[in-house]
Order: sequence, then structure tokens, then C-alpha cells
Amino acid sequence: MIQALRGMKDILPPENERFVHIVETASRIAGRYGYEYVETPLLEETALFKRSVGESSDIVGKEMYQFIDKGGHDVCLRPEGTAGVVRMFIQHKLDKKGGKHRFFYHGPMFRYERPQKGRLREFHQFGCESFGEESVYEDFTIIMMIKDIFDALGIGYKILVNSLGCPECMPGYRERLVAHLHDIQDGLCDDCQRRIETNPIRVLDCKVESCQALLQNAPMLSHHLCDSCESDFSTLVRLLESHGLPYELDPKLVRGLDYYTRTAFEFVSDAIGAQSAIAGGGRYNRLVEFLGGKPTPAVGFALGIERIMELVQMPPKEREGLYLGVMEPDALPALLELAHRKRQSEKVYVEYAKKSLKAHLKAADRLGVRYCGIVGDEEWRHRAIWVKDLETKEERRVGLDAL
Ligand code: HAM
Repeated sequence: MIQALRGMKDILPPENERFVHIVETASRIAGRYGYEYVETPLLEETALFKRSVGESSDIVGKEMYQFIDKGGHDVCLRPEGTAGVVRMFIQHKLDKKGGKHRFFYHGPMFRYERPQKGRLREFHQFGCESFGEESVYEDFTIIMMIKDIFDALGIGYKILVNSLGCPECMPGYRERLVAHLHDIQDGLCDDCQRRIETNPIRVLDCKVESCQALLQNAPMLSHHLCDSCESDFSTLVRLLESHGLPYELDPKLVRGLDYYTRTAFEFVSDAIGAQSAIAGGGRYNRLVEFLGGKPTPAVGFALGIERIMELVQMPPKEREGLYLGVMEPDALPALLELAHRKRQSEKVYVEYAKKSLKAHLKAADRLGVRYCGIVGDEEWRHRAIWVKDLETKEERRVGLDAL
């Protein structure tokens, strides 16, 4: 029997309702914040992700679904959404146009990770990207938008925030950090030893306990920010504070993607196990330029739909729609016509097989409809239909044309 690939999941009823509820809620709220829906391809040139997410990141270094297509192009299933949206932004010359552009998207992402609870190889994100707004108020506004989405979904969270600096303060800090890492090098895990050269900042969020113990006295970027980064970061923190948001400063939050500058944040939940990040994002002021566009400040985030599905409580389902069935098969064509008319405004199920009244009622109840309409021979003689409201239990016979 052929099964879905490891780390890839089918989403079917009733879980699909939670999936749709998350996407619809997030889309509605993003719309209120001025974001517009975009689609970008699932497959992109590998170089796009190498240049944006970063060659030394785990995502690009270890986790890409990468292959050579029939035309000999090196391509890759997208591991995240930002790179494709930035490519789109540049390709359609929106960078040259100037002004502000805000986009949202949702869809599958692919990372060849080791599957575990909350960690899939194909997962779905909902994300937003805002281009052209330099102000840290935009970073704050994005965080408020995520808050609105999670509040609407009834999900609790904590926000971790950090600043990853800019080209002015980052290089100096990097040198300090590398010097410190060389001092403690022998005690670090193999991955971290390699990262000292390739991506020293990522050593900070290594999950190995012995590495974390050694990093206690490591210099933290938040203490070495330039004036401008420092000023933006303290503005952001002040805003989070004054709006009563549940945040924590996390100087070791470096994120798994290399494109961030300044604000970096993650929303975490303590109710879903080890893979606790339910959304993450930040500012990436250099990425548009880095991919060949006109320098454009940008900030965005993405949330993990499957992780949020674990947390979301669906409102109790109300009975909805109409079930139609016959005890007199001659009535079926008229019933189909009625079904088509009713479908212009509501959900309708039709059972084509002749069944007893009891069997029809049972089937209607199982489908969760509000009304059950049956045409028996007596009704058919009068071109009528017997209808029962499954909620109030009220019953009535009405003309087929009058229903
Ligand atoms: P990310 O933190 O890599 O950021 O992913 C965002 C969210 O996707 C995570 O918080 C998590 O909920 C979910 N996620 C990531 N990997 C998996 C997985 N293997 N299985 C299930 N869920 C997963 C980004 O992707 C950035 N593009 C976010 C961004 C947008 N930054 C700026 N703009």
C-alpha cells in the first residue's frame, strides 16, 4: 500500500475545519491591516534560498528538497515564503515604484527535517510581508496583528523579542563573539565548532545543554547595538509594555534564517510540546537589495498552521443546511430541481436512494443539517414535501414550489 511520505500529512474532516478557520481568520485580520493576497510558486531556483535564507543556515544546508529539473535547472521546493515574495516584489519592479506594499500568503512549505510532534516535512504557513516602511512602529503593528489573530482564535502565547542589529553594529559584535567562541571552542559540539566560522550567531541558540552552559558569559548583541538600533529596540519594547503584551527579552533569539536585521521575534506556546514556536518573524532591511532590488526596508512574519491547529478551539457547530430524500423514486427529478434552487443560498445534501423515513432522518441527523425534507408517495401526489426542523422538532408539509 502506498502511503504519504514521512513527515507529510493529509488534512481531512473534521480537522480541515480548523485549518480553514485559521486561514480565514488570519486572512480577514491581515486584510484589515491593509495586506493583500498573493501567490508565488512552490518551486523556485535554489539560488534564491541560498542567497536569502543563507547557505550556512540549517534550512538551506541540510533541509532543502532540492533537485535538477528536466531542463537542467537547480530548483527547490520552497522551505519558507519570504524569499519568493521578495523575488516577486523585485521581478515586478515594485521596488522601483516606491511606496508601501503589504502582502499576505498561505500555503505549503517543505523542509527535510527529522519529523517529530509539531515538526513536519511538509507544513503550511500563513505569512505577511510589508515593504517600504522603515519605522519600528510597523514592527510593532505586525506584532499587534499576530496578537489579533491569536486572540480571535482563542490561543494563548508568549512573545520573545530580540534585536539582531544592523551592518553598523553587527560586524563589531560578531568579532567579539567569535573571539569568545574561540576561547570556549573545545567544549562546544561539532555543529557549533563549525558554526564559529560559518555562522557564529547561530551558536547562541544551540539546543545542546553543554554548549548553553559554556555560553553563559558570551557577549550579547543587545548590549552592543548602535544608537539607532538601540533606539528602535527600546521604542518597540516600550510599545509592547504599554500595550500589556506578554513579552520577554531573549538575547539568544537569533532565528533560523540569515536575512534578519534589527527586530526578531517569536510567538511561543507552552501547550504543544518541544516545537513551541507558533509564529516567527522580524525585519529584513537588506534582503531586497541583496537579491538585486532597490534597497527597501521590510518586515514580516509567518505562523505555522499545523501547530496552531493543535491549539485552536472551534466554536460549537450549529446545525446547518438541508437534507432531501425520497420514499417515492418518481419524485427524484423534482427533488433535484428543488435542490438546485435551494443551493443558491444554502447547503443541500440529496440522497438518491429510496429509504424509509427513519433511515432518512438518521442520515440527516448524522450530517448535522437543520432541516430534513422527504417526499413520500402521499406528498408526491400533492407535489409537496414533508419537512422536519431537527432543532425545534417542528414538522410541516409544504408545496415543493413553496419550500
Ligand atoms: P520560521 O520561524 O522558519 O520563519 O517559520 C515560521 C513558523 O512556521 C514557525 O514559527 C512554525 O510555527 C512553523 N514551522 C516551521 N518549521 C516547521 C515544521 N518543520 N513543521 C511545522 N511547522 C513549522 C519563516 O519561515 C520566515 N519566512 C518568517 C518571516 C516572514 N520572517 C519575515 N517574514
